[in-house]
Amino acid sequence: MPNRFAGLLAALLPLAAFAAAADEPRTSARVASPDARVAVEVTTDNEGRASYAVSRDGRPVIAPSRLGMMFTDAPKFERNLAIVDQRTRTHDEHWELPWGERRHMRDHHNELRVTLAEHSGPKRRFDVVFRVFDDGIGFRYDIPAQPGLERLSIAEELTEFAVADAATAWWIPAFEWNREEYLYHRTPVEQVGQAQTPITLRTDGGLHLSIHEAALVDYSGMNLARVDGRRFRAALTPGLGAAKVVVAAPFATPWRTIQIGERAGDLVESQLILNLNAPNALGDVSWVRPMKYVGIWWEMHLDRKSWASGPKHGATTEHAIRHIDFAAANGFGGVLVEGWNVGWDGDWFGNGETFSFTTPYPDFDIEAVTRHARAQGVTLIGHHETSGHAGHYEAQLEDAMALYGRLGVQAVKTGYVADAGQAKVTGDDGRLHYAWHEGQGMVRHHQRVVEAAARHRISVNPHEPVKDTGLRRTWPNLVTREGARGMEYNAWGQPGNPPGHEATLVYTRLLAGPMDFTPGIFGMETRSGTPMSTTLAKQLALYVVIHSPLQMAADLLEHYESRPEAFQFVRDVPVDWDDTRAPAGEVGTFAVIARRARGGDDWYLGGVTDDDARVVAVALDFLDPARRYTAQIYRDGEGAGWRTDPHALIIETREVDAGDTLELAMASGGGQAVRFVAH
Ligand code: NOJ
Ligand code: CA
Repeated sequence: MPNRFAGLLAALLPLAAFAAAADEPRTSARVASPDARVAVEVTTDNEGRASYAVSRDGRPVIAPSRLGMMFTDAPKFERNLAIVDQRTRTHDEHWELPWGERRHMRDHHNELRVTLAEHSGPKRRFDVVFRVFDDGIGFRYDIPAQPGLERLSIAEELTEFAVADAATAWWIPAFEWNREEYLYHRTPVEQVGQAQTPITLRTDGGLHLSIHEAALVDYSGMNLARVDGRRFRAALTPGLGAAKVVVAAPFATPWRTIQIGERAGDLVESQLILNLNAPNALGDVSWVRPMKYVGIWWEMHLDRKSWASGPKHGATTEHAIRHIDFAAANGFGGVLVEGWNVGWDGDWFGNGETFSFTTPYPDFDIEAVTRHARAQGVTLIGHHETSGHAGHYEAQLEDAMALYGRLGVQAVKTGYVADAGQAKVTGDDGRLHYAWHEGQGMVRHHQRVVEAAARHRISVNPHEPVKDTGLRRTWPNLVTREGARGMEYNAWGQPGNPPGHEATLVYTRLLAGPMDFTPGIFGMETRSGTPMSTTLAKQLALYVVIHSPLQMAADLLEHYESRPEAFQFVRDVPVDWDDTRAPAGEVGTFAVIARRARGGDDWYLGGVTDDDARVVAVALDFLDPARRYTAQIYRDGEGAGWRTDPHALIIETREVDAGDTLELAMASGGGQAVRFVAH
């Protein structure tokens, strides 16, 4: 009898499910990418908990992962949820980047908007919007205004990411003393602790994944805390109070993103992050000027000059003019001058109260320097080191930007040198709060800086920033940023950057957007005397491998003057591109990037390797098949290697076309740079 009853129940179940689908809330919703290979399924379980799962070609990529949110002043969104509505739409749009790694963008996705409603308790509702592209997905919570939820005090997101397959992870820790300037760990995914995003995964099944976020506006940054096994939960950076985020409804969160590729290079070529950001909000941005620059900078990091006043002061009128003349003679657009403004003499680290952003040191005649620069078509790249004291900076922000605007300064490098959790922000209550660099308070601060700069037609390059989430699409004057271990660590880092660092950055930090890494060290000098883990050819390759619309030639001018043949590549290489390809590479091991000059026919290629010398065969099929090219090759010479002879460099030319394969030979810690001049 019990068996017969069970059999009857089983036979009735499909009918019951069908009936529920017609009249009552559904328990699942599904959407697939335009090419039908990537799919998202949203389900609710018998306790009304909502999950999403991602598959590619029918195989799970993200196993069922919870959705939800906790509040400091209301019950969480997590249980008793039902799918009460679902809407899908297709979007296919072509748009242009005013500057960047490519010009023509295509936003082609299918969207699923799922409305989840509580069927008991407060009976609130919210939407989760999924956009599914051929190369991954993005999703966000979209919370409408509703009684009892006018203001959201978000304690934590309950969003999960359960990686379906075993995988290797490249990641940096979250919630530690530094901000983003860590060396990357490479571990099995089960050994990740709390990680910042983007995090990169290579699954045993052969996929490359990057989990990150897009359009981080008025919210706190997302990190990932491993719960167990391969399951992560979103861990928001703390905000200014008990809640990690406080916003008014209606409100949409940043997009949580999962990029999916077969090759590591597929992640580099993905346009998903920019596609999930809002269009240009500034209108005509022809005043945003991508450029190379030199600066009064590396010599401070080597401790040959000082930011502070005194006999070693770097930012003198005379020294700045020497740099301006050098920039003009070599076709560079800018000169960075650090230490020009008063405030550097005391204990500035993590302090910031000492800085004036409008008062030059007496040995720096800012009017004369900028006059000289303007006359030669060169701009000063202004510097605002705040030591993390955003509140102090904001009080002077308008005056500081107005001064630069009046002097024709077209870009400003900002800096927030303070330990994690030690930035200072003025809250809505008018009081000063200690803050995390990626918390909502600092996210709002950076927004105010970008908007103030835009009013004066100034581009911004923040160091110790909020991570890049593609906001350059919306605010194209937010041209680049730091946000990882840059070249400076080779001057004074203990240790400096290892030989595989750049080949790791390409597939991790740089997936988020441009980086002011500051390449081009020819002298190979370090403070400790330990060798830099690079060759000269690699320094040249970095100009192609690392995209930055403000791209520094970071070394002392005399080192360029003493190696004019190698420097020719730095003079030639553009900073703005029509197209970008990543034809070869493996995370952390080697990277080959090819880019076509913006508005031009020439291609440039850069390859970098880790400690292992290697030869990589690169098919030149990205070149225009209708043309021939002269390849100007800058490669590691005989005996080159970061430990042996970093300066051994061979410069040679070859005639090539799109049918050829280039055997890219790179020494230990080395690289190769190529310019393909179109005939
Ligand atoms: C850290 C920045 O990354 C570096 O470029 C700058 O020179 C110092 N802060 C001083 O502002
Ligand atoms: Ca830094």
